[in-house]
Amino acid sequence: MTQDRSIKMKLPYFYQQFLGFLAVIIVLMSVSVLSLVHFGRNTAVRSIEDRLYRYADSITEMELENNELDVIQRLLYEQDVSFFIFDEEGTLTYPLLPSDVRARLVPEHIERLQAGERVALTTNQEDMLGNPRETALIYAPFFNEQENEFQGFVTVSAPVSHIDQQMEELKANLASAFLISTILAVLMSFVFARYQVGRVNRLRKAAHKVAEGEYSIQLDHKERDEIDYLSRDFNRMVTALRYSQEEVNRQEERRKTFMQDAAHEMRTPLTTINGLLEGLEYDVIPESQRLRSIKLMRKETKRLIRLVNENLDYENIRSNRIVLNKHDLPVSEILVEIQDQMRSIAEESGNKLRVHSMDGLYVYADYDRFKQILVNLIKNAIQFTKDGLIEVDGEEKADGTQIIVRDNGIGMSAEQIKNIWDRYYKADASRTNTAYGESGLGLSIVHQLVEQHGAQIEVFSELDKGTTFTITFPKKPV
Ligand SMILES: Nc1ncnc2c1ncn2[C@@H]1O[C@H](COP(=O)(O)OP(=O)(O)OP(=O)(O)O)[C@@H](O)[C@H]1O
Ligand SMILES: [Mg+2]
Repeated sequence: MTQDRSIKMKLPYFYQQFLGFLAVIIVLMSVSVLSLVHFGRNTAVRSIEDRLYRYADSITEMELENNELDVIQRLLYEQDVSFFIFDEEGTLTYPLLPSDVRARLVPEHIERLQAGERVALTTNQEDMLGNPRETALIYAPFFNEQENEFQGFVTVSAPVSHIDQQMEELKANLASAFLISTILAVLMSFVFARYQVGRVNRLRKAAHKVAEGEYSIQLDHKERDEIDYLSRDFNRMVTALRYSQEEVNRQEERRKTFMQDAAHEMRTPLTTINGLLEGLEYDVIPESQRLRSIKLMRKETKRLIRLVNENLDYENIRSNRIVLNKHDLPVSEILVEIQDQMRSIAEESGNKLRVHSMDGLYVYADYDRFKQILVNLIKNAIQFTKDGLIEVDGEEKADGTQIIVRDNGIGMSAEQIKNIWDRYYKADASRTNTAYGESGLGLSIVHQLVEQHGAQIEVFSELDKGTTFTITFPKKPV
């Protein structure tokens, strides 16, 4: 039996089923045995009565003399059968006894005899020794043949005690049959109860696993009974649970991604603002540059606010919705801002950041996203270049506006290039948590933003020679 021992049940389902089946079978058996005994006994008595009627018929039909009747009486006596003949008044006419003997019949029976009916009165009398003695007793009328007139009746009797003996045998046989069928019933109930309980337990185990978070479970079932339908509904429930769990996981994953991306993108403007504030605090920013620095700080602060409002909006995260606010943006103006922002970190690693003149070049993009793309690419170029040159150039092409970010840093192998767009990928995994983040998120964010704009990004790189990223933004649709 597969029962969970840790749970104490008052009356386990197995016993309920088992006792239920057993009770039904035992009741059925008992009823059958009792009716068989009863029926057997009645049939036996009936057959004796039939025999007695036949004797009565033989006696009445033959119109016998007394001495012939004596012979018959002797013959029947050997078979324990005795008979008496009464006249129409109910007075004994055979055998002749010294005193008048009258039949002890109630008027109703006499009437029935007069009407030609036979009467069977099997009685329970006492014998000479006072033992109860069941006797089959019949009364049969006889009539005058010509006038069809009631003339009297014959009574024939015989003890039925031998039936009891037969009944005892029958009961003994039935008792052994009862015993054997009870054993069979116990076995069958056990097997059947076990089968049913097994099915319930299978469901219980499955429900337990689902409760522990295993949503892949599906139960086999046919369409036979309620337990099969329960299994089918259980499967549907588990599938629904799995879908909602997957949705919860997806949402969670999306939320995590958004949070990480937002944090990643907030780091650069915050670093810029912090650097400029430091410069102001220690008075290292020349007077002529102060206003410019404050303006840059304001711009970056506004960008941060927008980033927080748009990227951290829960509804946007849930529906994975991105709102792009596209305009024709002047590329060189934006690059000047970025240059101001990046100058100090470029200098820290001994790099020169050169932005080619792109006057009159426009790009059709969302200002914040466009800036994010370039900041990420230029920051990477600075990070992976030592004492080198980082160049940013732009060009109007037939299919759109092309922006190029080129460095002569450490470069990448073909194998590394394959993976750079993946989240958390870093060619050199040992570089973590430097001042610039280094979480391996930058390029995956860039890729996503480029896709949102319907733009193309390409990378050319050679180990120890440098890397070039080229993005082509499509023109404003006319
Ligand atoms: N200009 C580059 N030169 C050489 N390797 C680069 C360049 N840009 C990116 N890579 C390689 O691609 C990897 C992924 O870049 P990505 O910007 O996604 O992450 P990261 O710069 O390491 O970290 P994060 O941007 O999150 O601070 C980098 O770790 C680096 O190995
Ligand atoms: Mg990066």
